[in-house]
Amino acid sequence: MSKAKKSEPELMDKIISLAKRRGFIFPSSEIYGGLNSCYDYGPLGVELKNNVKRLWWKTMVQENADIVGLDSSILMHPKIWEASGHIASFTDPLVDCKKCRKRFRADHLLEAARALKPQYLKEEPKDVSELKCPECAGDLTAKRDFNLMFKTFMGAVEDTASQIYLRPETAQGIYVNFENVQQSMRKKIPFGIAQIGKAFRNEITPGNYTFRTREFEQMEMQWFVNPKEADHWFEVWKERRKNWYLALGIKADNLRFRPHAKDELAHYAKAAFDVEYNFPFGWKELGGIHNRGDWDLSRHTKFSGHDFTYRDEAAGESFIPWIIETSAGADRAALAFLCDAYTEIDGGRTTTTESNKEMEVVLRLHPALAPIKAAVLPLSKKPELTKVAEDLLVKLSPHFMTAYDEVSSIGRRYRRQDEIGTPYCITVDFETLQDQAVTVRDRDTMKQERISLAEVAKYLQDKLVL
Ligand code: GAP
Repeated sequence: MSKAKKSEPELMDKIISLAKRRGFIFPSSEIYGGLNSCYDYGPLGVELKNNVKRLWWKTMVQENADIVGLDSSILMHPKIWEASGHIASFTDPLVDCKKCRKRFRADHLLEAARALKPQYLKEEPKDVSELKCPECAGDLTAKRDFNLMFKTFMGAVEDTASQIYLRPETAQGIYVNFENVQQSMRKKIPFGIAQIGKAFRNEITPGNYTFRTREFEQMEMQWFVNPKEADHWFEVWKERRKNWYLALGIKADNLRFRPHAKDELAHYAKAAFDVEYNFPFGWKELGGIHNRGDWDLSRHTKFSGHDFTYRDEAAGESFIPWIIETSAGADRAALAFLCDAYTEIDGGRTTTTESNKEMEVVLRLHPALAPIKAAVLPLSKKPELTKVAEDLLVKLSPHFMTAYDEVSSIGRRYRRQDEIGTPYCITVDFETLQDQAVTVRDRDTMKQERISLAEVAKYLQDKLVL
């Protein structure tokens, strides 16, 4: 797809429409009118997102002897959020329109207003108090801080003593388990703890589809280091995170790093970089790499009374470990992979006659991410062909996610699979009955190879290298 097409505003609408029509993503609670910013992953979406998470886990935990996994609970002791700084500082600045009652993030309004300069503004606004509502030009309220954590109650009594929070990040579950993991797994610094799980934030302005939602999944890895080595590891993890996206097919032109400005740094961060992707709605954060210093373990030492001092025998030193955090959103990664893979081919490529040439969509997902790896397509519904096709499906399905389709012309069936990113289509035809072989078609090159029925599973295994 050309670069110009990438930023077409209607491109996102096309991707959203495809995602709904082909079972990737549905609006949540749709029959009740939907629930703002909540989405359900359909049969193909859950495969895509599971693949994203599985590949992240593989790179982090399976292929890295120095990183181990964790699955901590969503509900945690409320003091954790005091120690982490979330109760005091996890806020967004909020303003309301007095006329139309719409709610905005003050920093977003200011950013948008400043972006209008120099064409439309005499002077750059210094503060949100100088602005009007962008929807109806009404007056705005004064700016106030809004805490993003969802509150709930534990047990039958709904009082302040039983108030707890849905975790706004998975990271804290890792920090409070630092010693449990380090001692049970006999790990020496530097080492990492990885976790994938749901997080919840009562975002003031969710939006851009699944990009900013109130319930989402994070993939976080916290790397515990000697303070002297923190800068070195920060650079190492920046490189590794970028390479993960590139290895899974994200186009290099669509990926960039952005350092946080001093006034943008989170309360815990000494240094931070965002990994950004060029979405159809602009460059936005996919994940981050943060040097958190000793903030987390020092704070938990202070608030819990549990001393997290680590004795580094090799270095002959004792210290509170510093943390290099890599954090990414599973939903944002899945969305970026979808956007990057979406390709329109004007005039089509599977249609043969001039009269029925139409635009075709190919989802060029990396095979490891594709929800379905191979589709088995009998050329006709004749029982002698469908029997062979069904037998083949039984052989392949223990190894890969497969699909079976015997409805409509073979060209149409190829197009249906191209649209959901299936890397290989396997056609069982009348010749199969003679030569015990099938035609395997490659989604991207459209090359067709004749492969013996007995060899298909091995052929795909070699090609897919998951
Ligand atoms: N532990 C650090 C941390 O939570 P963050 O930048 O606030 O840092 C990390 O969040 C990642 O979580 C983001 O880069 C993004 O991918 C994802 N994320 C954060 N808020 C989100 C939201 N409202 N919807 C979807 N993903 C979100």
